[in-house]
Amino acid sequence: MGGCSARSARRPPWWRGPFCYGPNGGSKSKPKRSCRMTEPLPPLSSRARSLAAVGQASSWAIADEGLRRVAAGEDILLLTLGDPVCPPHPAIVAATKAGLDAGRTHYTPLHGEPALRSAIARTEGCEHGHVMVMPGAQHAGLAVLTLIVGEGDEVILSDPFYATYPGVVAATGATAVRVPARADLSTDIEAIAAAISPRTRCLFLNSPANPGGTALSPADYVRLSELCEQHNLWLVVDEVYSHFRFDGQDVRAWQHGPRGRTVSINSLSKSHAMTGYRVGWAIAPERLIAALGDWCAAALFGVCQFVQDAAVVALSLPDSELADYRLAFRNRATHVVARANALQGLSAAMPAGGMFVMLDCRGVEPDDQRFARRLLDEAQVGVVPGSGFGAGGRGHVRISLTPEVETLDRAFDRIAKFIPQA
Ligand SMILES: Cc1ncc(COP(=O)(O)O)c(C=O)c1O
Repeated sequence: MGGCSARSARRPPWWRGPFCYGPNGGSKSKPKRSCRMTEPLPPLSSRARSLAAVGQASSWAIADEGLRRVAAGEDILLLTLGDPVCPPHPAIVAATKAGLDAGRTHYTPLHGEPALRSAIARTEGCEHGHVMVMPGAQHAGLAVLTLIVGEGDEVILSDPFYATYPGVVAATGATAVRVPARADLSTDIEAIAAAISPRTRCLFLNSPANPGGTALSPADYVRLSELCEQHNLWLVVDEVYSHFRFDGQDVRAWQHGPRGRTVSINSLSKSHAMTGYRVGWAIAPERLIAALGDWCAAALFGVCQFVQDAAVVALSLPDSELADYRLAFRNRATHVVARANALQGLSAAMPAGGMFVMLDCRGVEPDDQRFARRLLDEAQVGVVPGSGFGAGGRGHVRISLTPEVETLDRAFDRIAKFIPQA
């Protein structure tokens, strides 16, 4: 975007003021207001304090540092973020541009454009009326949890969990109860059953899971359904990696979870390499969809029209157009697991799905934070310490499968040289 100077001839009719607040500033800038503080200052809310107590930064500190050092010119191979490196399919980009050219830059219906709701309903195998369009799965999770839990309620997470979940729960005022996963990092449903208390309102799970790479089976859903019905609970499943099932199964919450109490959240971020578009959805019972409409009016006022147009095109692409992109993740997972298991002191299991491999580093260094730090400083490889995903991630580091196989190989060559000295 350009600055705002020398534009007077092309000023839009609504242009009034002499100042430009655009990202590049303007020819005149607003005089700075001196802002001497007077006591007492108004406090932040208890939600802000709960979020601060959970903290976000520590999980990502090494990943952030890696990004900064790469930007400063260091030769570091980053296996940190779950953000696909490739651009979206050209048809998606073309639809985005066409939407902008056609002036699709206005407000949208609160629940989403009808065409996109229908496309999502077809993809998910649900009714149009059960779809709520959201700016990404992250926001969908926050909105859903805010509408189903609050102060005094408990939300059960399987530990290790996606690193943002404790923050999502804290933002609702509820308490996260972390239930250890099994040794293979899969969700331990009997341990969840044992952790249910009179305050439990929701089981918040992720399948296929980040970081664990495990996935819920039809039998898991049978037991989860029994528990939800017996204790009157919601089952919320984050399915952003549903297109990345390496075991060939497609087991979705909406089909297998308990009727009337299941919510599935999903997005195009991973499935179509569209992280920056911020478009996703929740599939939920109608009474929650109505509440999500109220949420949207209060918090969002809809998702951009041209983004929703592009999302319709994304969901209309034939599977064959995305097969190579998705297959690449399975191939990279197989490759990384083989490379890891060939190294003394490291081990990894083939994930059932997702974009990550958890590398067990206990045979080299039991402290995953220290191992990740040393990989960054001494081997110039960036990974995410597993303990950032809960106690269940301890002794592991998370490897992202977003880089090409050649980059993953170079990273493992560096790790192989580093291991004997570690
Ligand atoms: C498990 C999980 N849920 C949600 C998200 C965020 O998805 P979105 O970009 O759709 O908000 C991520 C991103 O890494 C994720 O791993």
